Amino acid sequence: MSYLTGLVCIRCAASFGIEPRFDGCPECRGEAPANLTPRYDLDDAAREFSVASLRDRPPGMRRYHELLPPDIQDAATLGEGDTPLLHCERYGRRLGLDRLFLKDESRNPSGSFKDRLAYTALAMAKRFSARTVGVSSTGNAGAAAAAYAARAGLPCIVLTVQGAASAIVTQMQAYGAMVVATRTKADRWKLLRTGVAEWGWYPTSPYFGPPVGSNPYGVDGYKTLAYEVCEQLDWEPPDWCVLPVAYGDALFGMWKGFDELARLGLIRKQPRMVAAEMAGSLGAALASGEDAIPEIPAPSPYVAGSISVNQSTYQALYALRVSDGAARMARNDELPGLQRHLAAGEGVYAEPSSLAALAAVGRLCEEGRIGRSDTVVVVNTASGLKDTATTAAAAPEIPIVDGDAAPFLETLREAYGYRLEA
Ligand SMILES: Cc1ncc(COP(=O)(O)O)c(C=O)c1O
Ligand SMILES: [Zn+2]
Repeated sequence: MSYLTGLVCIRCAASFGIEPRFDGCPECRGEAPANLTPRYDLDDAAREFSVASLRDRPPGMRRYHELLPPDIQDAATLGEGDTPLLHCERYGRRLGLDRLFLKDESRNPSGSFKDRLAYTALAMAKRFSARTVGVSSTGNAGAAAAAYAARAGLPCIVLTVQGAASAIVTQMQAYGAMVVATRTKADRWKLLRTGVAEWGWYPTSPYFGPPVGSNPYGVDGYKTLAYEVCEQLDWEPPDWCVLPVAYGDALFGMWKGFDELARLGLIRKQPRMVAAEMAGSLGAALASGEDAIPEIPAPSPYVAGSISVNQSTYQALYALRVSDGAARMARNDELPGLQRHLAAGEGVYAEPSSLAALAAVGRLCEEGRIGRSDTVVVVNTASGLKDTATTAAAAPEIPIVDGDAAPFLETLREAYGYRLEA
């Protein structure tokens, strides 16, 4: 059973009931927009949510039902969560790290971490009598919403922008979503806002600016990243958790998961959260000490399209501040190389955006902030299959041969440096 009691403002602590509130806190909006977040009765939850009780439960997100929104046990599931935590020794050695782990979220049903958000958000859709799901997305958020809406038997409308990466858009269409592209990003929010306000659409993504982040119940699904990581590391939390960040939904949600575990007395320390970003709005806000997040244009053309937003959110800033974390920038031009090293060195093919997190880890190692023996968890947010064009553009041409062995071996040597062992 869920111990959800209502929603609370991340900044001013104003509290609300279990309501469909997706546009942030009305009490402190004048200062800077802030999201609401679900609040739970942790004292009551502690009686059921324990290391011992978790041991006997089946894998998957619903094993954490006390700390997730109600109805999660009956929600439409595709087998989300329970993703592996891979110790990347070879890649760690490149960076001078003994304990580099990758939480491989590409293993989720639609190929990205957004399935955690979509699953949890859709779990609440029935309670709020939602009849249509609406999402504004060029990528993974749209694909995940489309998949879970299909599973729940609800129609889904995805507002994307003209020219968005085609594999993910095709994926949305495959799930039966009604995909419509707008010519400008502003128009997609304008239409979704109208859909939510006037047509009763159930939003799973942000839909106005300055953004507060996504559906709060959906964001809570990301807490399970922290719960799983703690279980996988035998309740010894990492020193650092690094994520590629756009609105920072996942960064905040994961931080909140660690925070709850600490409040429940299940862990003794909490990791520092790190945002890897393309535009740098969180880094600028951290430096300024202000609550408002500045708008900074993301450099284009985008390689990391999924995280190339101009403005992050207060919830991400909050998680960075209270965890004594950091924000570091990644450059578009370094991502294809990092993608190759991770895929060829560890067998994990990640979406270019996801590699921003490894770029940020590299920066913090160079600065000496992350030390050799620190435990570092990097979230690989999505599969490289979401955008193969970037990889293909940087890949060598494939040589063509006939069936003769000697020229074939010569070609392998020339093209790839391969030699038969003596
Ligand atoms: C692959 C990938 N990584 C990271 C992000 C950033 O997610 P968030 O908005 O939760 O920061 C996205 C968002 O769409 C994404 O698709
Ligand atoms: Zn508030």
